[in-house]
Amino acid sequence: QVWNASGKYRVVSTKSMPGTRWIRLLTDQDCRVEICTEKKTILSVDDIVALIGDRCDGLTEDWGDALFSALKRAGGTAFSNMAVGYNNVDVGAANKYGIAVGNTPGVLTETTAELAASLSLAAARKIVEADQFMRAGLYDGWLPHLFVGNLLKGQTVGVIGAGRIGSAYARMMTVHFGAYSAYGQFLQANGEQPVTWKRAATMEDVLREADVVRIHTSPAFYAMLAELISLHPVLDKTTYHLINKGTLAIMKKEAVLVNASRGPVIDETALVEHLKANPMFRVGLDVFEDEPQMKPGLAEQKNAVVVPHIASASKWTREGMATLAALNVLGKIKGYPVWGDPNR
Ligand code: DGY
Repeated sequence: QVWNASGKYRVVSTKSMPGTRWIRLLTDQDCRVEICTEKKTILSVDDIVALIGDRCDGLTEDWGDALFSALKRAGGTAFSNMAVGYNNVDVGAANKYGIAVGNTPGVLTETTAELAASLSLAAARKIVEADQFMRAGLYDGWLPHLFVGNLLKGQTVGVIGAGRIGSAYARMMTVHFGAYSAYGQFLQANGEQPVTWKRAATMEDVLREADVVRIHTSPAFYAMLAELISLHPVLDKTTYHLINKGTLAIMKKEAVLVNASRGPVIDETALVEHLKANPMFRVGLDVFEDEPQMKPGLAEQKNAVVVPHIASASKWTREGMATLAALNVLGKIKGYPVWGDPNR
């Protein structure tokens, strides 16, 4: 699909991005925009190199050294990843070729935190299992023990990776759901002053105490002690398999673990074993170690709620991400600052 065919600069998008604002931004600035309409979700490096062709000034989405050398050969200087996480981008390789890398922070903070909150609630209150029960026609009347879950109010929330998203999640849990406290990478909030955070001494402290653990992405973190543990760290070699057999073992047996960061932060094979051995332990996952695949056995676990990497999937956010991705490319082409610049 081509927009403004006579534009001076050629910008290629490997995927169709939501909305039209991002296209207008580029075409108004003398760019010819080419959108790959290929139905494959994941393009190979060869596919992308072919899209880049002989002349390409900027590219949105995807990664890799082979790709940056092809972009450089085609005269390109700008690349934008349509995501805040850029663990998939070899920034060093891009820099080597003089290519600016952009990402799309900010616009997805609240949307991602909301999804993590949704997973927390869905897992704690067994919503998906109850939905399936209902649809299977199994409900034959109110029972005191039917799908009894955990009340979030008063629980201890642990956040591993207290960056933008982790902090927004902690705010939602403490201010809106009345969770007692939230431990972060360095921080802990208490019940009376829900947005006042204190430093947790170690990740193990967080894991031991939390009722819900949610993982976010940001460079370091410590946290496994809550009833609710949410993971939000950046994926790098320090956070790879951060949640493993050993760290799972120190979590509460009825804890809820949520991951809306990156799949490899959890050793998913160890998680499957833990879910099997601890039916009261629950997990809410937006991301997977071998995404888009799930590890064998995960799909069968009733104590797991799984969704296909939709944390940033609100209309407003996705259109904002597309706009930022376009602005990043345009910025480099026109000599303005790149909005999301991981080197900054
Ligand atoms: C991100 O922005 O890193 C998300 O994972 C994409 O939704």
